[in-house]
Amino acid sequence: MSSSTVITNIAALVTNDPSLGDHSPLGLVRDAAVVIEGDRVAWTGESSKAPATDNRVDAGGRAVLPGFVDSHSHLLFAGDRTEEFNARMSGRPYSAGGIRTTVAATRAASDAELEAGLTRYLAEALRQGTTTFETKSGYGLTTADESRALRVAARHTDEVTFLGAHIVAPELADDPAAYVDLVTGEMLDACAPHARWIDVFCEKGAFDGDQARAILTAGRAKGLHPRIHANQLSYGPGVRLAVELDAASADHCTHLTDADVDALASSRTVATLLPGAEFSTRAQWPDARRLIDAGATVALSTDCNPGSSFTSSVPFCIALAVRDMGMTPDEAVWAATAGGAAALRRDDVGRLTPGAYADLTLLDAPSHVHLAYRPGVPLVAGVWRRGVRRV
Ligand code: NIG
Ligand code: FE
Repeated sequence: MSSSTVITNIAALVTNDPSLGDHSPLGLVRDAAVVIEGDRVAWTGESSKAPATDNRVDAGGRAVLPGFVDSHSHLLFAGDRTEEFNARMSGRPYSAGGIRTTVAATRAASDAELEAGLTRYLAEALRQGTTTFETKSGYGLTTADESRALRVAARHTDEVTFLGAHIVAPELADDPAAYVDLVTGEMLDACAPHARWIDVFCEKGAFDGDQARAILTAGRAKGLHPRIHANQLSYGPGVRLAVELDAASADHCTHLTDADVDALASSRTVATLLPGAEFSTRAQWPDARRLIDAGATVALSTDCNPGSSFTSSVPFCIALAVRDMGMTPDEAVWAATAGGAAALRRDDVGRLTPGAYADLTLLDAPSHVHLAYRPGVPLVAGVWRRGVRRV
C-alpha cells in the first residue's frame, strides 16, 4: 500500500468544492488539512478532524490551493523574438506575421533542442505552481515538423494540441487552400495519434471562419476535440464557431459582441482569457467581468509563447486579471485552477477533494488572495505533483 501524508496547519485551503468550508465556489476551509495517499487526495477538511497518516507536513499557517491548470501554451519553439518585443514597446503594433520568425527557427532546431526548451519552461512553470499544462504545435507547419513537435510534447503531458493551422505555412502563402488541404489531410493523419486536441488561429491574417470550421471538423473526424484561438485581435466568427462545434474552450475572447457573450454563457465552452498576451502586446484587456456576469465559465492561462506572451507565470496572470479585467481575487484563483480544468474537460485536477490528483501549491502567504495582493513576488513555497513534492 502507498504511504499517506497529511499536510496540516493550513490557514486557508482552496478546495474548489462548494460543499466544503465557506460554501463559496472556492470551498475555502480555514485551519485545514489535506491527506495524500499515493498520487491522489484521500481527505480534506478541518485539521482537528484529520485521520492518522504515516507522514506529517506542517504548512505553518500558510495557504494551500490546487496546482494551477495552465490550459493554453505554445512551448514547442526555438529562437528568440526580443527584437520584435523591443520594437513593439517602441510603438510598432503586434500582428500574426511574427509567427514566421519562430517557424524558421523551430524548423532549424534539433529534436533535442526543442525538448530542452520545453523542459526548461515546464520547470519554470512548476516552480510557479503549475501542475497541469496544455501545449501546442504550430511553429513547424510541415507534416514532419508538426508531428515531431507533438511527439516531443506527448512525452511531457497528456494535454497536447495540434495547431497546424496557426498561420498558413510561408511556402504556401499564395495558396491558402492548398495549406488547408495539407492540414486536413496528410498533416492531420500524421499528427492525430500524438494529440488530444485540435486548435485553429481564427483571425485576420491567419484562418477565416470557413477554413477554421473545415479544419476542426476534419480533426474531430480523426478523434481530436476542438479548441479555438478566437477573437484575439479583432471581432470575428471564432467564438460562435467554438460554441457551434462544442469546443472545450474559446481562447483569448478579447473582442466580443453581446451575441458572442450570450453564446458562451449558454454553452459549456469555456472562455479562456490570456492576459499575458494583452500585457505583452499593449492591447485592450478582455472583459472578464462581462463574461462572468453573463454566466460564462472563465479560465485564466498564460499563453506562454515567444511572440505575444512570454510568461510562464500563472500568478502574474492572476494579478493582471484582478487589476485590469474586473475579476475578484477569488474568481481569478478559481479560473486558474478549476477553470483551467474545465477548459481541458478534466475533473481530476483543479480541485482538492478525495479522488483528485494530489497536485497542490503551498504559498508563503496566509491566503490565496496574496497572489493578486503581492504581484511579482515569488510566493510559491512548495509544489506537490501527483502526490510527490517537487518544489
Ligand atoms: O496565442 N494567437 C496566436 N498565437 C499566439 C501568438 C504566437 C506568436 O506570436 O508567436 C497567441 O497569442
Ligand atoms: Fe495562443
